[in-house]
Amino acid sequence: MRITPAVAALCMGTLPRAAHATTPETCCSALETTALKSQVIYPDSAAYKTSIGSYWAENVQLEPTCILQPRTVHEVSLAVSTLVAADGGACKFAIRGGGHTTWAGANNIVDGVTIDLSLMNTTTYNEKAGTASILPGSRWEGVYETLANYNVTVPGGRSGVVGVAGFLLGGGNTFHTARVGFACDNVVNYEVVLANGEIIEANKESHADLFQALKGGTGNFGIVTKYDMKIIDDDKLWGGIVTYDNSTTLQHLEAGHRFINNLENDPYASWIGMWEYLSLTDQNMIANALEYTAPVAYPSAFDDFTTIANTSSSTRVANLWNLTQELGQASGYRDVFITASFVNNLDVMKRTIDIHNRMIEEAKAGAKGDDYTMFTMIQPWPKLFADHSTEQGGNVLGLDRFNENLFQVLFDYSWKDEADDGLFNQLANSALEELTTYSKSIGADNEFIYLNYANSNQNPLSSYGPENVEYIRTVAKKYDQTGVFQNQVPGGFKISAVAQ
Ligand SMILES: Cc1cc2nc3c(=O)[nH]c(=O)nc-3n(C[C@H](O)[C@H](O)[C@H](O)COP(=O)(O)OP(=O)(O)OC[C@H]3O[C@@H](n4cnc5c(N)ncnc54)[C@H](O)[C@@H]3O)c2cc1C
Ligand SMILES: *[C@@H]1O[C@H](CO)[C@@H](O)[C@H](O)[C@H]1NC(C)=O
Ligand SMILES: *[C@@H]1O[C@H](CO)[C@@H](O)[C@H](O)[C@H]1NC(C)=O
Ligand SMILES: *[C@@H]1O[C@H](CO)[C@@H](O)[C@H](O)[C@H]1NC(C)=O
Ligand SMILES: *[C@@H]1O[C@H](CO)[C@@H](O)[C@H](O)[C@H]1NC(C)=O
Ligand SMILES: *[C@@H]1O[C@H](CO)[C@@H](O)[C@H](O)[C@H]1NC(C)=O
Repeated sequence: MRITPAVAALCMGTLPRAAHATTPETCCSALETTALKSQVIYPDSAAYKTSIGSYWAENVQLEPTCILQPRTVHEVSLAVSTLVAADGGACKFAIRGGGHTTWAGANNIVDGVTIDLSLMNTTTYNEKAGTASILPGSRWEGVYETLANYNVTVPGGRSGVVGVAGFLLGGGNTFHTARVGFACDNVVNYEVVLANGEIIEANKESHADLFQALKGGTGNFGIVTKYDMKIIDDDKLWGGIVTYDNSTTLQHLEAGHRFINNLENDPYASWIGMWEYLSLTDQNMIANALEYTAPVAYPSAFDDFTTIANTSSSTRVANLWNLTQELGQASGYRDVFITASFVNNLDVMKRTIDIHNRMIEEAKAGAKGDDYTMFTMIQPWPKLFADHSTEQGGNVLGLDRFNENLFQVLFDYSWKDEADDGLFNQLANSALEELTTYSKSIGADNEFIYLNYANSNQNPLSSYGPENVEYIRTVAKKYDQTGVFQNQVPGGFKISAVAQ
């Protein structure tokens, strides 16, 4: 008789577990009986420690029973088939791209197998097609570095260390979004390993439903083993990081508010507003990432910012590879991200920074460790972004439902001391709750939650709207009939966790 997951679960509940190998060990052994043997690594190996240590946030560095590091799409396919068949379907596994999600269990697992795609990290430029083929273990810095040899690039992460795979599956906000839509809108083909081990290509001609659903629908359908992206013809930009005293907060918020509404007049401009508190220097400051996606210094789109007195500036003409080396935060901290979107309203912006300042005081009063940072980021999310998505063929984010310019808030806290986990998670949750409540009270709320910045207690897929939720559910069911990516791969945001 074939042992179904239900029968397996029943057996596990009734048999004394110590009497035989546990399920996770059985799953690792099953991989070892295949041609994947040399790619299975265990906690006693240096490669295992390197893999775990390379997760960006320390709090997600879980220890799986074993890690599998496939080198090719065929190895990914063999791994999925093996793990689905082993132990009556009781094997649990996780999929890891760059490993940048900040909540534990999204990209890793305890008592299971982690499929770490990091060895699959090459980028190939297809000059004739005007595309780049990018493997899922890539970091954006590697992609940009390879493409810089040809003076071309792709719209991707604004911090070079970030992973490609999860970024593209959740949308992807880039310096180029106001020109070309989200990163996912620029994917023209996905190579995907399905739950039954089949390898397929999804594009606008073949498996077009899956092609669309992968643009925002994250790991609900299969494992993406290659992304083909449209090229951007010039990789030179003007930009950098400009810092200011936080006494200029109001000027920045007014400038940012106008910038968002004006972006359609010059979509080459990009602004990230960062309010940063660094405990080690007790410094509360503002940093703008100002980037112009053409080699033009001081374009007038930034006049409102460049007329504010700064304390330092790294603006220059450089390529995307170079510019994305300086943006980003240190790894090796414990981190929480939590996010929401709002109507582009100056009062909500002001309240965002009031809350930021208050949370800093609460951290100072309550933190046990002395090394932590508190970032509050304000980013444009204008209607223009969604218009480009539509022009490019559409995705499942559901932003076309909204007629207003939005902005997005990311509360991003990092700390060293595990004893502060409770404190910073609580501060992040209350910051968001307070801001959301306020925005509702003045009718400036918006339901969209950006998946790539969302915390585990948020439900970004449900914020895509009922039509997109149903679409994702239908496509997931079609390509993964037995629900492998819902049940055997518990990590990440699952469509089965969205209420009917
Ligand atoms: C320093 C930093 C900078 C950032 N900058 C930006 C930015 O500029 N713009 C932006 O939009 N976001 C940004 N982000 C957020 C980023 O998009 C997410 O963290 C994203 O998940 C990173 O992708 P990853 O491959 O590293 O993620 P992972 O954590 O490895 O994966 C994310 C999810 O996708 C699943 N997954 C991964 N690979 C695959 C695959 N091949 N097939 C199927 N499922 C898969 C995983 O199981 C997991 O659930 C940033 C994050 C950090 C930490
Ligand atoms: C691929 O990963 C290896 C091992 O981490 C690294 O040395 C190499 O630089 C990466 N390649 C690219 C193109 O990033
Ligand atoms: C890239 O651009 C530089 C000038 O910025 C030029 O010297 C070089 O030849 C170009 N390379 C290619 C492959 O076009
Ligand atoms: C600047 O930072 C200080 C110290 O954190 C804070 O008290 C003050 O409110 C901030 N000012 C503004 C305008 O945000
Ligand atoms: C930063 O300040 C310097 C000195 O006042 C000024 O020359 C420069 O233009 C400013 N840079 C930006 C990007 O605002
Ligand atoms: C970026 O370019 C500048 C020169 O414009 C150079 O000094 C710097 O080393 C480069 N940085 C990287 C990471 O390539």
